[in-house]
Amino acid sequence: MRDAELSNALLAWYDTHGRTLPWRVGPADRAAGIRADPYRVWLSEIMLQQTTVAAVREYFRLFTERWPSVEALAAAEDGDVMAAWAGLGYYARARNLLKCARVVASDLGGVFPDTVDGLRRLPGIGPYTAGAIAAIAFDRPATVVDGNVERVMARLHAIKSPLPAAKSELTECAAALTPQTRPGDHAQAVMDLGATICTPRRPACGICPWRDPCAARAAGIADTLPRKLPK
Ligand code: ADE
Repeated sequence: MRDAELSNALLAWYDTHGRTLPWRVGPADRAAGIRADPYRVWLSEIMLQQTTVAAVREYFRLFTERWPSVEALAAAEDGDVMAAWAGLGYYARARNLLKCARVVASDLGGVFPDTVDGLRRLPGIGPYTAGAIAAIAFDRPATVVDGNVERVMARLHAIKSPLPAAKSELTECAAALTPQTRPGDHAQAVMDLGATICTPRRPACGICPWRDPCAARAAGIADTLPRKLPK
């Protein structure tokens, strides 16, 4: 399959099987042209650094209920935000969260930059998070590569060279697959595939939208990839 066909098959799967998450726009709203709120996308991506979706859900609900906009968060007391963050860990994230909210609220008129480069200049936003926000909130064709995406790419192309050396090759594969239309949905779809079907152990290849083109499945080695050099 060509990259465009691969992405189309994945997007069709995502429209019916993508996860429902509180910071996402569902398929019906997406079809109506409604886009995710950049504030909510940013907040979710900061929370999801080093933390699972399951752990983030309730914190995300509490934060957005209490501080529904970047201006509201920027005006919060430091101690209130740190207390609300308690339990999520990696507290530098919460301090940068507030710094970033205040820069966006005071210097940028409450509007998040809509490019990877613009986002990267903000406190707490590294290359991964900038790509994720640019893709998900602004539909920029940024390539978003986390552990899930590495695993999916390693299997789809049966890349046997081990991580971390294989990282650049896996990133190139992910970049080649990133479509110009719906790149944000594509990025989220690859993450969902890795989280729900193309799992580290016992992947559910039988129900995978990429079961036919997957080179690792054809070779019977999906559950052995990606390989990793011992630390
Ligand atoms: N992990 C990091 N960002 C994510 C997202 N937007 N959806 C699901 N899992 C994620």
